[in-house]
Amino acid sequence: MRKMSQLTFFLFAALVSLGACQQCSQGWTYFQGRCYGYGNTATSWASAQVMCQSQGATLAEVSTTEENNFVSAIARTRKGTCVWLGATDIFREGDWKWTNRRDFSNFTNWSGGEPNNLNNVENCLNMFQRLNYRWNDENCNSNCNFICVGPANNHLSAAEVPISK
Ligand SMILES: *[C@@H]1O[C@H](CO)[C@@H](O)[C@H](O)[C@H]1NC(C)=O
Ligand SMILES: *[C@@H]1O[C@H](CO)[C@@H](O)[C@H](O)[C@H]1NC(C)=O
Repeated sequence: MRKMSQLTFFLFAALVSLGACQQCSQGWTYFQGRCYGYGNTATSWASAQVMCQSQGATLAEVSTTEENNFVSAIARTRKGTCVWLGATDIFREGDWKWTNRRDFSNFTNWSGGEPNNLNNVENCLNMFQRLNYRWNDENCNSNCNFICVGPANNHLSAAEVPISK
């Protein structure tokens, strides 16, 4: 009996810690129901997108001030010179689209004078260190760090876990 209750307690503790700690994979940060990861290698926009997808995520998309503050804080902390986000106007100049949400939402955080499509080759969105991590359009082939966003893991609360007898 005593052994049994120890085992039950152990299972309970394990499930609680699972719920509390594993909303995001290690190295990813939880924010408002999703998990954000920082790509610590500077690479092209397309390659960054593929790396995000390899983790079941996509390049980060930002549609509120809160989300923008959160994402730019990651970029600032990690000190990326430039950090890709998941929007491009490569299919139609000036018509910015997020990868998932498609339409650019009402929120933007362009730096003054951006997007400027400099030399007619800037079709991907990043946060640029030199512009205090405000938004900038950049050549998609430039090498930048990147931020991915993916779903949080389904975490079972102890109450929802059926315990077999
Ligand atoms: C735009 O970004 C800057 C720098 O991250 C931040 O200080 C500012 O509050 C942002 N503006 C809005 C409207 O979110
Ligand atoms: C953008 O703003 C319009 C008008 O204020 C609103 O109807 C629409 O729902 C907003 N779209 C998003 C994605 O927030």
